[in-house]
Amino acid sequence: MAIVIKSSREIELMRQAGKIAAGARSIARQMIEPGVTTRAINKEVFHFIKKSGAEPTFLGYSGYPASACISVNDQVIHGIPGARKLQAGDIVSVDVGATYKGFVGDCAGTFPCGTCGEEALRLIAVTRQSFFEGIRQARSGKRVSDISAAVQQYAEGAGCSVVRDYVGHGVGARMHEDPEVPNYVQRGRGSPRLVQGMTIAVEPMVNMGTWEVKVLSDGWTVVTADGSLSAHYENSILITDGEPEILTVADDHWL
Ligand code: MF3
Ligand code: CO
Repeated sequence: MAIVIKSSREIELMRQAGKIAAGARSIARQMIEPGVTTRAINKEVFHFIKKSGAEPTFLGYSGYPASACISVNDQVIHGIPGARKLQAGDIVSVDVGATYKGFVGDCAGTFPCGTCGEEALRLIAVTRQSFFEGIRQARSGKRVSDISAAVQQYAEGAGCSVVRDYVGHGVGARMHEDPEVPNYVQRGRGSPRLVQGMTIAVEPMVNMGTWEVKVLSDGWTVVTADGSLSAHYENSILITDGEPEILTVADDHWL
């Protein structure tokens, strides 16, 4: 499948979808505290997206049963919300998607529940910063692999590892479009050139221990192979003629 360049009308709809997705991320972030179930967070995410006139992109995607992915501690991504009660010291990754007038906003973040250990807070900060290091390279004329290299260098330089089995992606009328946006460099592989009007989701998944992961028997939940903590940070962005524009920005401007 080819990379889709968005028109200015499509970009405006991507901004609106992005704002709704980011708003849902903020709702989830504000709910995170000891005793709250991941199911309760998912429910509020669902209501916020619907109330905003959008559809929860994840719900029913390949059979996924919820509106948000909520992944705790050693869970990397695709955690299914349920009866689990969050505990003080947990780190909680929330990934949400909203489809508005045919366009998708996709974003994620990892948040501390109550008081967390220093190493957990550092992992969250390293993961978030690796995204911003990556998107400094997200300019017309550069390659996707320039983003990948910057994310990997920063995360590994901080003593963490980047997940390889899951990658960022083009985003638009569909949640997953070309190109793939890995968070590591694949030696000897060509990489697409970035062009103004491309919209991509950059989403580092960073582990404290090994980069290796496995999928639990529920068929969805991805966990670190060694049980170490993992964090995730994602925004949908637009390639412009200058700095990239982050599309998943809510009214509270939390990033
Ligand atoms: N935001 C994610 C991604 O970029 C997760 C979607 S998984 C789903 O792939 F199945 F729940 F939709
Ligand atoms: Co994504």
